[in-house]
Amino acid sequence: MNYQLLPLEVHGDKRGKLVSLESEKNIPFEIRRVYYIFDTLPEESRGQHAHRTLEQLVVAIDGSCQFVLDDGKERTEIWLNRPDVGLYIGKNMWREMKHFSYGCKLMILASDYYDEKEYIRDYNVFLKEQVQ
Ligand code: TYD
Repeated sequence: MNYQLLPLEVHGDKRGKLVSLESEKNIPFEIRRVYYIFDTLPEESRGQHAHRTLEQLVVAIDGSCQFVLDDGKERTEIWLNRPDVGLYIGKNMWREMKHFSYGCKLMILASDYYDEKEYIRDYNVFLKEQVQ
């Protein structure tokens, strides 16, 4: 399974806490894009796709949600609920995000620009590509 939960160093004092994410230092790829997801609802799921080449790091900045990750052989469920833990997802991992808490905010760092052509949005196509 091409994923990893990465503990992120927290710089905290009485004023609050800070986490810094640096390309190819504590993030294992060069960051080309950052996007975020907000105004989520518990009954609405997202994702249901894989990426042929993209690597990502997802941080639940606020709130929580469940990630279902699938490499075509195994499936696992991970709760993201801490701003000091990043979920690294490598290429060729089917993912679904669900059970969002109200107002959950996910920040995603990506290794490349948005390119719909490198998405796999059909699960059967994903499975076929994994056995090749
Ligand atoms: P979508 O892939 O459905 O989001 P999720 O992975 O959370 O299910 O993306 C929603 C819309 O946003 C879709 O029209 C594509 C667009 N989009 C961009 O324009 N740029 C991006 O970087 C991303 C991730 C999505």
